[in-house]
Amino acid sequence: MLDDRVRTVLARLEEEDRLEREAGAPSARRSRQIEPTTGRFLFALAGAQAGVEVLEIGGSRGYSTIWLAAGARILGGGVVSLEHDPVKCAAWRANVAAAGLGEWAELVEGDAFETLRRTEDVFDFVFLDAEKNDYEALFALTRRLLEPGALVVADNVLSHADALAAYSAARQGDPTLVSVTVPLDRGLELTSVLTETPAV
Ligand SMILES: C[S@@+](CC[C@H](N)C(=O)[O-])C[C@H]1O[C@@H](n2cnc3c(N)ncnc32)[C@H](O)[C@@H]1O
Repeated sequence: MLDDRVRTVLARLEEEDRLEREAGAPSARRSRQIEPTTGRFLFALAGAQAGVEVLEIGGSRGYSTIWLAAGARILGGGVVSLEHDPVKCAAWRANVAAAGLGEWAELVEGDAFETLRRTEDVFDFVFLDAEKNDYEALFALTRRLLEPGALVVADNVLSHADALAAYSAARQGDPTLVSVTVPLDRGLELTSVLTETPAV
């Protein structure tokens, strides 16, 4: 559900992002959040499945988490968000609480590689939005947590095609997956899982 609390926090974060970009704040200090249209897309996908278990890699200050958690709330799911920057983690907690979504979103603070290596949880939907050069390795770590029917959305595949064209090509060439580049905003690679992790 997109209630007033959620809409208010999303609007504030959009304004903060606009002001930081206008002021030329360095990328590492900005939230680097998704576009609102991408947020609506994630909301729709997360909201479509009862009890959806969402994994977000790269939570930043919680803007995309709020879209995902608001979607997951519709049919009773939840979001686990991974973020390693302590300043962003503090902002994530404040923003998710202000949106009234604390019950539907959990932050795991620390390096996503470490977190993914030790988790055995299975996810229905993964949103990948960390450092572009890490996508391939993060996808590889996540793959064993995905069952048939799971979805993976990776952001920036068109805005950072130099780093991510190979990511899209690998997903589209994998017979255990079906994958398509969605030309929305910065470009989303939408990948559907057909089988369990293939034996190696
Ligand atoms: C593009 S931003 C995410 C924006 C967020 N998804 C949103 O739309 O609001 C990428 C985030 O990933 C985090 N990150 C990058 N590498 C990470 C890692 N190895 N472990 C945890 N977080 C990481 C960064 O600190 C940054 O906040």
